[in-house]
Amino acid sequence: MPSLQNAGQTQTKSQSTNHNSKMGRKLLFDKAHIENIRYYDVYRANGGYGSAEKALKSMTPELVLEEVKKSGLRGRGGAGFPTGMKWSFIAKPEGVPRYLVCNADESEPGTFKDRYLMEFIPHLLIEGLLISSYTLGCNTCYIYIRGEYAWIPDILEEAIADAKKNGWLGKNIQGTGFDLEIYVQRGAGAYICGEETALIESLEGKRGNPRIKPPFPAVKGLYDCPTVVNNVETLATIVPILRIGGEEYAKYGTGKSTGTKLISACGNINKPGVYEIEMNISVEEFIYSDEYCGGIPNGKRLKACIPGGSSVPILPANLLLKTAKGEPRMMTYESLADGGFATGTMLGSGGFIVLDEDQCIVKNTLTFARFYHHESCGQCSPCREGTGWMERVLKNIEKGKGKMSDIDLLWDIQRKIEGNTICPLGDAAAWPVAAAIRHFRDEFEWHVLNPEEAQTRNFGLAHYADPLEIAAPAAV
Ligand SMILES: Cc1cc2nc3c(=O)[nH]c(=O)nc-3n(C[C@H](O)[C@H](O)[C@H](O)COP(=O)(O)O)c2cc1C
Ligand code: SF4
Repeated sequence: MPSLQNAGQTQTKSQSTNHNSKMGRKLLFDKAHIENIRYYDVYRANGGYGSAEKALKSMTPELVLEEVKKSGLRGRGGAGFPTGMKWSFIAKPEGVPRYLVCNADESEPGTFKDRYLMEFIPHLLIEGLLISSYTLGCNTCYIYIRGEYAWIPDILEEAIADAKKNGWLGKNIQGTGFDLEIYVQRGAGAYICGEETALIESLEGKRGNPRIKPPFPAVKGLYDCPTVVNNVETLATIVPILRIGGEEYAKYGTGKSTGTKLISACGNINKPGVYEIEMNISVEEFIYSDEYCGGIPNGKRLKACIPGGSSVPILPANLLLKTAKGEPRMMTYESLADGGFATGTMLGSGGFIVLDEDQCIVKNTLTFARFYHHESCGQCSPCREGTGWMERVLKNIEKGKGKMSDIDLLWDIQRKIEGNTICPLGDAAAWPVAAAIRHFRDEFEWHVLNPEEAQTRNFGLAHYADPLEIAAPAAV
């Protein structure tokens, strides 16, 4: 199982630290190496709830919001929407409750960062929820957690009970007059319930079908009341923002990718795990340095990578390490997206999946297509029918029963899904197929032309790591 790589081991009461002080700056995992940081007394003794104390006792909600805006924090759930802006949209009708919902559904294949925050530093999340609820004027907050994380609700509930016992939850928190209750709600294991409106439906006890937007949850969300839905990591990050101030936070990272980001790294790497990176390192450093993934096992070469969870476009090695302009590709929202979908991808949720030269792109694409077909809620026909159709066509190609025209058919199907559905699951299903064909078409063709050979060996690295021919800059 992958581990909490650059934070030290905090899994059990008795384990000690292995924090490496040479590592990059940390804001979320800075105390994760401290033994027993999972427990209230240890968390508090190491400065825990200091940010909440500062916010509730010496700042108005408006001032806290200003700090979050200054920080430039972008939502860590996948879309990267600015958190301060999202919070400023919340409607404030008189006499109507507002809700904060923490999205802990984390079902995107390749993404397992929130799990580590909740499991090893639960009070960081509780403190983040407290500050965020205070800022938004919410007295009730829900943590909606994926069903498969069966053991984590107990950890969260213990942390909530301890926080309450110590006056950080409940009525009149720390004598400030602010009240907050946090409830943990388990999902039943549906990926679609990570989409914010499906999550709200599920929280209301209904089938997790996404709602048509508008109205947006900020106006009409849980029980038709104004609601903010944020990712676990986003909400935990409010704590260091308040501790060091929004302006200081914005000095971490680069451009519009401020601060640090949790990356769950897996696939063909020597050191799978969850890393906190400052968003100013290159993709190459992240994959090959000992501080992070530690390179690719057995001297194999890099073939491709899906850097932001299964929904984001796959990139071949030659476009992953350098942009089409020949610049080093960085671990930032902007750099990973450089070139649009023609030559770029997305940071997404930070689920970083590395594929070495032995991996089959057709098989990988089929695996994802099967997942999206299974997880489609079925409300809209392009997604309901298209995901199953893509799975069937890909299965044929993978099993050596495909035709050349199937590749164009796949392209057509994904084009007809993208942008034509109620929620972005349709896009999430279409993009991996589109990117695989865009960048690895000859591997698909090889499967069709060599059906028997394709059952016994993989296409290999081929030219996917070859240097790109970069067009010379135009003379001025
Ligand atoms: C199919 C689908 C699944 C999603 N799953 C998650 C998830 O597991 N966790 C999450 O935080 N956001 C998920 N999202 C994004 C949420 O809808 C929402 O944008 C996010 O929780 C907002 O939080 P943020 O602003 O902090 O990023 C998903 C979106 C879609 C379309
Ligand atoms: S896109 Fe797919 S998952 Fe989303 S509402 Fe439509 S059918 Fe359901």
